[in-house]
Parts: sequence; C-alpha cells; structure tokens
Amino acid sequence: MRSRPSSPSLPTRRSFLQTAGAAAGTLSALTQFPGGVFAGGDSVIKVGLVGCGGRGTGALFNALAADKNTKVYALGDAFRDRVDDTLANVTRSFSSRVDVGDRCFDGFDAYKHVIDCCDFVILATPPHFRPVHLRECVEKGKHVFFEKPVAVDAPGVRSVIESARKAKEKNLCFASGFCYRYDLAKRETIQRIHDGAIGDVVTIHITYNAGPLRAREREKGWTDMQYQVRNWYYFTWLSGDHIVEQHVHNHDKVSWVVRGQMPIAATGNGGRQVRTEAKYGNIYDHHAVAYEYAHGLKVFSFCRQMRDTHFEVSDHVIGTKGQAQLMDHTISGAVTWVYKGEAPNMYQRELDEILASIRSGQPINDGESAALSSMMAIMGRMATYSGQRVTWQEAFESNLTLGPAEYGWDKPAPPVVVAMPGHAKHRAF
Ligand SMILES: NC(=O)c1ccc[n+]([C@@H]2O[C@H](COP(=O)([O-])OP(=O)(O)OC[C@H]3O[C@@H](n4cnc5c(N)ncnc54)[C@H](O)[C@@H]3O)[C@@H](O)[C@H]2O)c1
Repeated sequence: MRSRPSSPSLPTRRSFLQTAGAAAGTLSALTQFPGGVFAGGDSVIKVGLVGCGGRGTGALFNALAADKNTKVYALGDAFRDRVDDTLANVTRSFSSRVDVGDRCFDGFDAYKHVIDCCDFVILATPPHFRPVHLRECVEKGKHVFFEKPVAVDAPGVRSVIESARKAKEKNLCFASGFCYRYDLAKRETIQRIHDGAIGDVVTIHITYNAGPLRAREREKGWTDMQYQVRNWYYFTWLSGDHIVEQHVHNHDKVSWVVRGQMPIAATGNGGRQVRTEAKYGNIYDHHAVAYEYAHGLKVFSFCRQMRDTHFEVSDHVIGTKGQAQLMDHTISGAVTWVYKGEAPNMYQRELDEILASIRSGQPINDGESAALSSMMAIMGRMATYSGQRVTWQEAFESNLTLGPAEYGWDKPAPPVVVAMPGHAKHRAF
C-alpha cells in the first residue's frame, strides 16, 4: 500500500529558484545533466508540440514570442489534419522560425517522434495521455511544458509525481499549465492572504458554472476510437470529466491558498440532467463537492455546464478577519484592497518565465503540486460518481486506470457507461 504523500508546501517562484539552484548544486551539476545545456546561452531551442489543438497551438505561439532563439522543429497529433492546421497557422505568423522538414507526425505514437528530436516539448493532448508522454520526455532528457490536468486517474497522478522527481534529478524543466500561477494579480492577492490580510482561512467556495462546450458529431466511417478521441471532452477516460478537465484550475488555486495541503475526504453530488444525448459521452453536466481538511477547513466546489444558466467562475476565500475574491483580486473586511497593478497576459508570462528558467539553468518544476491539484479534482469526481465519502488515501491509492487496453484506431474503445451513484460497480474508484 502506498502511503499518503506529505502535503507539499508550494514555493514562491523566487524560493523555488533558490531551492532548484541549491538542488542543482554546482555548475558542474548543471552541465552534467541534460537540463543544463541551455544555461546562460542563447543557442537555438528546438520546440516540439504534441497535441495540435487550440491550446497547444496557442502555447507554441507563446513559446516563439517568449524567446527569440526558439524554433518550431516538430509537430505531432493523433490526426494529420490537426497537424496541418497548426503548421499553416504558425507558418503564417512565424514563417522564418518554422523548420519542421519532414518532422510532422500523426497517430498514437506521434509523441515519441516529436520528443525524440526536440529540446523543449509542449504537451497539449487530452489529459489521459499526459502521464505516458511526460514519462517519455523525462526518460529522453527533454524539457517539457504540459497542460493541466496532469492525468485523469490516480495511477496517472502517481506516475507524474515520479516523473517530476526524475526531472528534478536531471535538472529538466517540468512545468505545468496552471496558468493562474503566472497571473500577477492572483500572485499578489494570494500573497496578501498568506501575509494574513483575511486572518485564518476557514472556508473556500469555488465555482466553474458555465455554458456547454461544442460536441463533435460522429462522421461516417469513423471507428469508435476515432470518434471518442475526436470528441474527447465528453469521455471520462480522455478528459477526466469537466470537474477535472476545467474546474481543476479552481482546485489548484485552493491548493495555492492553503500552501499545498490536500483534503482528507470528499463527498459530492452530480449527474447528467441536460446533456443526455450520445454525443455527450458519459461525463456529467454538474458536480457539487464538499472537501474536508484535517484542520477544519471546508472547501465547497460547484461546476456546471448548462445552457442559459447563471455564469460564475470564482474563488471566494473566507477568513477569520475578512474575505478575498481571487478572480476579482479584491480583499474586504479588516483590510480593504483592490489590485491596481499591471495585468499582462498570463499565458504569455507563463512561457516567458518557463523559457527564461531553462536559459537560467534553473528550470521550473511544479510537477508534484500540479499532480496533487489534479488528484484533488479526481477525488471530487470519485465522490460524485460513487456517491460515497472518499478519503484522500483511498483516492490516491486507487488502482483504477481509465482507458483502453490497447491504442489503435481499430482497437476497441472503452464502453461508454454513465456512473450511477450508489451502484456497486461505481463504488470502486
Ligand atoms: N491552461 C488553460 O487555460 C487551458 C486552456 C485550454 C486548454 N487547456 C488544456 O489543454 C489540453 C488540450 O485542450 P485543447 O482545448 O487544446 O483541446 P483540442 O481538442 O483543441 O486539442 C487537443 C489536440 O490533441 C490531439 N490528440 C488527441 N489525442 C492525442 C494523442 N494521443 N497524441 C497526440 N495528439 C492527440 C487532438 O487531435 C487535438 O488536436 C487539455 O488538457 C486542456 O485542459 C488548458
């Protein structure tokens, strides 16, 4: 049995750099490991993208804008048309910095080819694939930026924690896409909470209540596997459900506020009320979860994806002396404060800092905290799907792996089963 990991304390970026620097030790350690090769220099960094969708293409643009000595060296996606779209798109804006030659790959193995030939890899596929792709990056000694969430199940989370540890040993960048961590306004708001502006945090209320996202209709000739990967958002094995895929941002902000502590248990309700057609796969359209913490803190989480319902994406932190709204960057109570500083684009700042950290020889590695935030959201899903009170230990030690036995367009896709709370088979998580 695995024991519960100790609650990590999340460092500030400055303390992280100091720690990473100390861990890296001497300059000789930096040159000994692959992560040190760009330290202090301006040699060209070959960038590869795995997952040529909206976010992956955006991150590629951010990487090119962040560092003038980066070039697009390889592209990979499950589907050729997605690679072609990204190639056309990036060539329109950065033609002189696109050098992919014949390094465009498609299929389930595309990631291996991209990782093989690049120095810095962006992983932006559906999260199901992330643990395997991350392991490959670290084994091959490549710097990586990976989108959130890090996984859709507990074995995936544990694998990412292990990869993060190995990346640290090799002094590799292992930076997650929890982009709010790069938002200056949120940094300052949370710093003020940490400095005591609202007293002790006793309750946090997080919401991701929004409208629906587009579902892909099935096209003639597609196998089940092709259809599910094309329409990945709606299948739990691929996306983790929207509590994991999207609401995980709020979970990560909670983790940031409470310095990396994780809840001890969760209970929740959820289901499918309006998205019941086959094209909506098997994810729920709403979840509500209460998380319990060892020291008495409670976190209440709500997410919903329904047309024509109240929209609210917020993080409301309540303390013994006041309250903070993380999305509005305001504090009220004993202290009244509104953020008035700069508000640069957080997605650009993210890649700016990540590439600068590689150049400095002290690459960012937030893999463990990103994995634990993802685990917290997965635990929430376990609670809503099972209808049980799920402890952190049960959730973290779960051996339930979501996904098919084998990958291939003609291989069987996982059965599409909607979880029914209270049913015996959904008690296993
Ligand atoms: N940080 C943020 O704010 C933010 C914003 C949007 C998306 N994201 C994250 O980025 C990831 C991608 O989201 P998106 O909106 O770009 O989705 P998308 O559907 O636009 O892109 C995903 C791409 O991955 C490809 N793909 C699927 N399986 C693959 C595989 N096995 N190998 C290679 N390619 C594969 C798909 O064909 C698609 O082109 C998700 O994890 C999502 O949560 C993060």
